[in-house]
Amino acid sequence: MSQDSSGPAILVEGLTKAFGEVRALRGIDLAVPRGTVLGVLGPNGAGKTTAVRILTTLLRPDNGRAIVEGRDVVREAAAVRRLIGLSGQSAAIQEELTGRENLEIVGRLFHLSRAEARRRAVELLAQFDLTDAAGRAAKNFSGGMQRRLDLAASLVGRPKVLFLDEPTTGLDPRSRLGMWDIIRSLVAGGTTTLLTTQYLDEADELADEIVVIDHGLVIAAGTAEELKSRVGGDVLEFTVPDRSRISDAVAAVASIGEGEPHADKETGVVNVGVGGRGSDALVEAVRALDEVGVRTKGLALRRPSLDDVFLALTGHAAEDEKALTNGRRGRKRASKDTAKDAS
Ligand SMILES: Nc1ncnc2c1ncn2[C@@H]1O[C@H](COP(=O)(O)OP(=O)(O)O)[C@@H](O)[C@H]1O
Ligand SMILES: [Mg+2]
Repeated sequence: MSQDSSGPAILVEGLTKAFGEVRALRGIDLAVPRGTVLGVLGPNGAGKTTAVRILTTLLRPDNGRAIVEGRDVVREAAAVRRLIGLSGQSAAIQEELTGRENLEIVGRLFHLSRAEARRRAVELLAQFDLTDAAGRAAKNFSGGMQRRLDLAASLVGRPKVLFLDEPTTGLDPRSRLGMWDIIRSLVAGGTTTLLTTQYLDEADELADEIVVIDHGLVIAAGTAEELKSRVGGDVLEFTVPDRSRISDAVAAVASIGEGEPHADKETGVVNVGVGGRGSDALVEAVRALDEVGVRTKGLALRRPSLDDVFLALTGHAAEDEKALTNGRRGRKRASKDTAKDAS
């Protein structure tokens, strides 16, 4: 079917899109080789959904071009739609219908016969662990089940290219891991996948290559390891409940870290990059803080987060609309709250 079977499955060049004054995409380039997973990583408002909507023919770009399986998403939109699956941030399932009915309807849209649509629905319900719930209205599904049903619906037409827009945002930890397993098995089957996420660990787990976008621009691209190496390995983090002791805490761990410790005077959170010295650094930090008599909470090592990558790439924390409207400054608190909910 594809006109250009030697090229990448997804090719994007100079894509721009503005909504009035808001320049959601300011010239994005992407190339996704067949059978690989591209992780598009960026905070709220970065332009991820806009890019996905253009690539899935739901929105016209202002400038630039996007090719999916050799087809232009604007000029050959109908052909593109037959080749792709989309599972969106807000599930597209019909709540009044049962799980099985939802999938059968999609099958009929793909011109499957009634029997074929039924067979495909049963097969996907089993694959997504929804067989027991098949006869229940989707509105009674848990959040995780709705996401799985939505993803199942995107696979009815056996897409060559799959778009997953923040597939785990808002899911509880168990559902999130379950979703990761499902996505892993899909890509193991060779489906080219473009996945957007706000979480570095998710991109890390699932993506072959990652592009980081911020304010409608690609600010970095590479493998997860390449991106994390820019941050310099693990991050040691703890909270100092007694704010007056923050500077003592910073001084105590300064020689342990590889970079300067970073302290948030409002929250009392101190973090410092410790490179590859993980557990040694942890032990040294406990000792050093104990010696100066600073009490801490939640001393732990963590992998670099999206915040750390952003900090390293841009020199500033990514802004977050939610954080701003909540009256918080910067994105740090808000993103940690979300990370806690979802990890
Ligand atoms: N239909 C729209 N009308 C106006 N502004 C929009 C619309 N869709 C997105 N935007 C704006 O474009 C920017 C990028 O949004 P989006 O692509 O949804 O980001 P993300 O998915 O990365 O959170 C944001 O500033 C958002 O408010
Ligand atoms: Mg989005």
